Amino acid sequence: MKNNIILEGFMGSGKTSVGIRLSYALKRTMIDTDKWIENRQKMTVSEIFDREGEAAFRQMETKCLEELIRTCDNQIISLGGGLPVREENRRLLSKLGRVFYLKASPEVIYERLKTDTTRPLLQVDDPLKQIRTLLEAREDSYQVCADVVIDVSGRTFDEIIEQIEGDLTKKGGSVK
Ligand code: S3P
Repeated sequence: MKNNIILEGFMGSGKTSVGIRLSYALKRTMIDTDKWIENRQKMTVSEIFDREGEAAFRQMETKCLEELIRTCDNQIISLGGGLPVREENRRLLSKLGRVFYLKASPEVIYERLKTDTTRPLLQVDDPLKQIRTLLEAREDSYQVCADVVIDVSGRTFDEIIEQIEGDLTKKGGSVK
């Protein structure tokens, strides 16, 4: 198994923000699967959804994981929010590293994303309802993948980073 630190969770749960801070704290590089796909496709995620559809994007996520398993170790990997839903992806994730689930409440997610236009799945009439529905449908997938669950609602970035560092130290000695 690879020694990557993997951040999973719903859109707006703070994976990218936590990942960037963690990357400074641990001096590890960070990969964001959405950015990885955007670079490869030379399109934004919204453009991919628009032009090729969600199913094509999900296929790209699986390809991305397959390549990361071959090429990526000792890094921080921030996942697109829907990536763990596919069973195949969950299997790949178990080989890729230690998975931290950043768990946020629907209300917190809504507050963070209510003016966001970059998440195609939330461009609907009632985004809060959509968040609740998707979160409920995905919760089991997130939990099954998770080595550690971190409740991020109402916690500062410093507290979250501290918990992750604490877990890594406990698990395998020094994390730096
Ligand atoms: C998605 C989450 C997004 C991005 C795409 C679909 C999802 O990533 O992959 O818009 O299905 O939850 P973030 O979680 O980084 O926003």
